[in-house]
Amino acid sequence: MIQQKVRKAVIPAAGFGTRFLPATKATPKEMLPLVDKPLIQYGVEEAVAAGCTDIIIVTGRGKTTMEDHFDRAPELEAALRARGKTELLRIACSVTKLARISYVRQPEALGLGHAVLMAKELIGNEPFAVILPDDIVDGEVACLKQMVEAFDETQSTILGSEVVEGDAISLYGCLDCVPDPINPRLLDISNLVEKPKPQDAPSQNAIIGRYILTPRIFELLEQVQPGSGGEIQLTDAIKALLQFEKVYGFHYVGKRYDAGDKLGFLQATVDLAIKHKDVGPAFRDWLQKQSF
Ligand code: UTP
Repeated sequence: MIQQKVRKAVIPAAGFGTRFLPATKATPKEMLPLVDKPLIQYGVEEAVAAGCTDIIIVTGRGKTTMEDHFDRAPELEAALRARGKTELLRIACSVTKLARISYVRQPEALGLGHAVLMAKELIGNEPFAVILPDDIVDGEVACLKQMVEAFDETQSTILGSEVVEGDAISLYGCLDCVPDPINPRLLDISNLVEKPKPQDAPSQNAIIGRYILTPRIFELLEQVQPGSGGEIQLTDAIKALLQFEKVYGFHYVGKRYDAGDKLGFLQATVDLAIKHKDVGPAFRDWLQKQSF
């Protein structure tokens, strides 16, 4: 069997971001910054850290600031150069050199599965990663890199997963699975249930916003009927994939934040600010002096 590599990553970023209104009325959720970088940049950097060279961002109406963010900004660069602000110039330019980034539009926000389907032509017939940019995973080794290493062994679809507490499972896709006997981080999946009632959940293993998918997913996405919320669900297509191919869950090492949600966004902001090389020490100092 030819060993396939994950070279491409899809970052769906065409949703409405309703949980963050009014901030997301005219600003893409994916451009909200955690300290000094927008969410979408964390996603791109993680894909690059995992070895991806081609990134496909799925955008929609009103989302062009993402394209500007990763593009050159000649006036800004000239101004920074003229003022001798070399470090800021380096930061502004480095964003443009992260990877080869392409954009594809999702004309209507018809769901995550539909957003991924928009990338079909640009992916072609090879395995690829999906990163949901509002799931931020902080850790020593990038979450997607850990998953790519597992893919190199299994050559099968892999879903990022974590154990969630109690009723929270009803907010996620849920895995019916047993641990793999050789690699305990891998979960051998027999079924998927989207947002189960807590009493119906087959396990506490939730799917999080990291996937490595085989290209067969596209033909299955084309057949999926709108499911929960009238949206084309990626989980439904992965469930159909189970009839043809092996699908694994993967317990990554790292701390995840749901930065598409106000509370998760604030938690990520505080944790990342404390670790930030410029503002970290002063911010930690300030926090310690507060009496909440
Ligand atoms: P979310 O459900 O977290 O994003 O989708 P949302 O729909 O924008 O947010 P809320 O729930 O209304 O607050 C996860 C990712 O999938 C993208 C989103 O942009 C987000 O990055 N997405 C979702 C699409 O690209 N298209 C869609 O139709 C739906």
